[in-house]
Amino acid sequence: MAGLYLSELTLSHFRSHLGARLALDPRPVAIFGPNGAGKTNMIEAVSLFSPGRGLRRSSAGDMARRPEALGWKITGILHSLHQVHEVEIWSEQGAARQVRIDGKAATQLALGRIARVLWLVPSMDRLWIEGAEGRRRFLDRMTMSFTPDHAEAVLAYEKAMRERNRLLKDQVRDGHWYVALERQMAEAGAQIHANRQAALVQLAEAQGAAETAFPAAELELQQSEGAMPEIAGDLRDALSEGRFRDLAAGRTLVGPHRTDLYGVYAAKGVPARDCSTGEQKALLVSLILANARALARDFGAPPLLLLDEVAAHLDATRRAALYDEICALGAQAWMTGTGPELFAELGDRAQYLEVTDEAGTSRTAQTGGA
Ligand SMILES: Nc1ncnc2c1ncn2[C@@H]1O[C@H](COP(=O)(O)OP(=O)(O)OP(=O)(O)O)[C@@H](O)[C@H]1O
Ligand SMILES: [Mg+2]
Repeated sequence: MAGLYLSELTLSHFRSHLGARLALDPRPVAIFGPNGAGKTNMIEAVSLFSPGRGLRRSSAGDMARRPEALGWKITGILHSLHQVHEVEIWSEQGAARQVRIDGKAATQLALGRIARVLWLVPSMDRLWIEGAEGRRRFLDRMTMSFTPDHAEAVLAYEKAMRERNRLLKDQVRDGHWYVALERQMAEAGAQIHANRQAALVQLAEAQGAAETAFPAAELELQQSEGAMPEIAGDLRDALSEGRFRDLAAGRTLVGPHRTDLYGVYAAKGVPARDCSTGEQKALLVSLILANARALARDFGAPPLLLLDEVAAHLDATRRAALYDEICALGAQAWMTGTGPELFAELGDRAQYLEVTDEAGTSRTAQTGGA
């Protein structure tokens, strides 16, 4: 069947998992077990099927199982539309993770073209009230799901900005050193902005297109000060004109790294940051689902969804609505919760994993549900 899902997943020496081998079908995966059993570790492994640092933003070294800490490996059979890929992801001796697709060395960016992965984790409960960085990251992950090349633009921009910031810190005043870096930043920066804007349009359309139990969010990009020059030439001019100001600050003060994602609970007209905790969470769920709907239409399949402890925070009605939506979309959503009863409404629409801790080692059993 067409879609996007893992039909096999193995973990070796990945955090608390010494070895796990799972045979899966396209249905959602409900993972249950006590605190500390290794549930989040399991979906963190799945999050590495997309570019970036995964859902904990950990280094590859931190993911190696202690005390050995030699390295780890994840393999998966990934069904992506009408193709099936064998994916290997591993890290040795704390080095950056490596990827092989169908036996050939590949980049994380190449993985981003065949897999799309989105997640909600408990730390994102504070997304609307904390700093702009977390919101930007959330936005960029959604943007990447629509435009995998977005990851490349972000990397190019950050690399050039790091070098420019080093010049600023060293109080280099000779313009020669800046010109090429600012041109790279302007080109990547304008691309980043355009990709983000396009993602917001897709999300708005997808939210408008379906009646759901989750409240729609109106989203808008805001700049910390002034306006973001949207055209590469304008951004390049703004960077070169801002050099003296940036020299004083010791860093770059204009560009897409200063963009914030502003959200409003549409039905009430209340800014997301002023909403209740439950409402803030519901807005995130709403956006993830809208993103999944848009991808189902555009890419041809909904993304892999990783929902860590989302079920426990929703009331029974919204929980049932979430499950219905996930099943209607046909998404392989990986969901965690402490007990099987949290997934009762799913019944045999899902497959179940029970994770337990045995003296510091996670054991995973494929079982029935509640
Ligand atoms: N690199 C590592 N090597 C070995 N164990 C690790 C490593 N990193 C984390 N752990 C352990 O993995 C265990 C399980 O963590 P995990 O976050 O997956 O639990 P969980 O099942 O999601 O629990 P909760 O319900 O509390 O969220 C923790 O006890 C943690 O100490
Ligand atoms: Mg957890």
